[in-house]
Amino acid sequence: MRTQVVVIGSGPSGLLLGQLLTEAGIDNVILDRVGKDYILGRVRAGVLEEGTVGLVDRARAGARLHAEGLPHDGFSLAFDGRDHRIDLFGLTIGKRVMVYGQTELTRDLMHHREKSGAQSVYDAANVQPHDFDKGKPYVTYEKGGGAHRIDCDFIAGCDGFHGVSRKGVPERAIRTFEKVYPFGWLGILADVPPVNHELIYANHPRGFALCSMRSATRSRYYIQCALDEKIEDWSDDRFWDELRRRLPVHHAEALTTASSFEKSIAPLRSFVAEPMRFGRLFLVGDAAHIVPPTGAKGLNLAASDVHYLFAGLVEHYQDRSDAGVDRYSALALARVWKAVRFSWWMTTMMHRFPDTSDFDQKIQEAELDYLTHSRAASTALAENYVGLPY
Ligand code: FAD
Ligand code: DHB
Repeated sequence: MRTQVVVIGSGPSGLLLGQLLTEAGIDNVILDRVGKDYILGRVRAGVLEEGTVGLVDRARAGARLHAEGLPHDGFSLAFDGRDHRIDLFGLTIGKRVMVYGQTELTRDLMHHREKSGAQSVYDAANVQPHDFDKGKPYVTYEKGGGAHRIDCDFIAGCDGFHGVSRKGVPERAIRTFEKVYPFGWLGILADVPPVNHELIYANHPRGFALCSMRSATRSRYYIQCALDEKIEDWSDDRFWDELRRRLPVHHAEALTTASSFEKSIAPLRSFVAEPMRFGRLFLVGDAAHIVPPTGAKGLNLAASDVHYLFAGLVEHYQDRSDAGVDRYSALALARVWKAVRFSWWMTTMMHRFPDTSDFDQKIQEAELDYLTHSRAASTALAENYVGLPY
């Protein structure tokens, strides 16, 4: 079999790239090692930048996102018993973010792909990219007891942090940068109205907490936890009690609780692999970089990679120029590193580190005080949070 682009991975980056390529008349096949239901069972990001929404619109998959997504013009930073609103819309002169779950976005993209008739192969075992450093790449996989091969012009490695694409690159050709944080996030989903109409990021002596949402009736809450924490030790009651303790009193008193229907712990790390292109193989999204979730950047960075790669591939097929694909890695990485910096900064400012000295603690307090009293500092936060331009 032959196609123009093989996309490895059916997460948001693979599906978004696939849908944009299909709309542009560029033939592509998506391969994933797991099934659709498994992918749709993963609960992850919740905040979309305008650039991400624009790309979903361009892929003509944005109708439900606009109907059901919640535009947010600001959020709260809570610390020292009070909260301070960051006016995203005012500080950025008219930009906002959209609260819409990654699961729903993935569902929409899968639905539109099915309608378009473009091919996806789920439950594909042992997917492997080959010969991407030569002129004629191909991808092999196993399914239904048989071995399969797809020849192509390009391979897009959209297969997440643990995928095969980055691992298929010779070690000497790649450089990685990593920072592991000494805590994780324990997150729950529950069908209760959100405690506040906007998100609350809370810094508290007991640890960070985040109040987010998926809709007017579904809330997503997170608390900072130790890395060795076990999910079985966290009953719903224990989670709600701990969350309440970390919020300013007026929010704690307003919190509605119920049984959760999803509960998971995620470790926090910053990771970047350079470059993001190896001949005819491109790394996209989490396959190339991971950020701690504090600035809500992971999914949005995956989307900006897709933007640059899609532009390069269109240039290749429509204008017969490789200038765009040649620039992909440099353009994507310039934006990636700024989001890595921002996510690291938000994480450092909002969490309690186990080994914090009194000096570090005072610096963190000064940072929050400065941020909330300086329009310049608030503007810098806001312009990064809504997403830097592509
Ligand atoms: P992924 O979503 O990881 O998709 C990769 C796809 O590739 C998967 O479907 C996988 O099955 C497939 N795949 C993997 N290996 C192979 C293989 N060998 N062969 C074929 N297919 C393969 N971001 C935020 O902004 N806010 C959050 O709250 C947040 N929470 C997160 C919680 C967790 C536990 C994790 C892991 C991430 C979280 N993120 C969050 C980050 C965000 O979800 C990711 O940045 C986003 O999913 C990246 O999309 P992606 O398509 O690049 O990768
Ligand atoms: C969500 C996750 C984040 O990491 C964040 O910064 C904001 C919202 C969420 O899952 O809703």
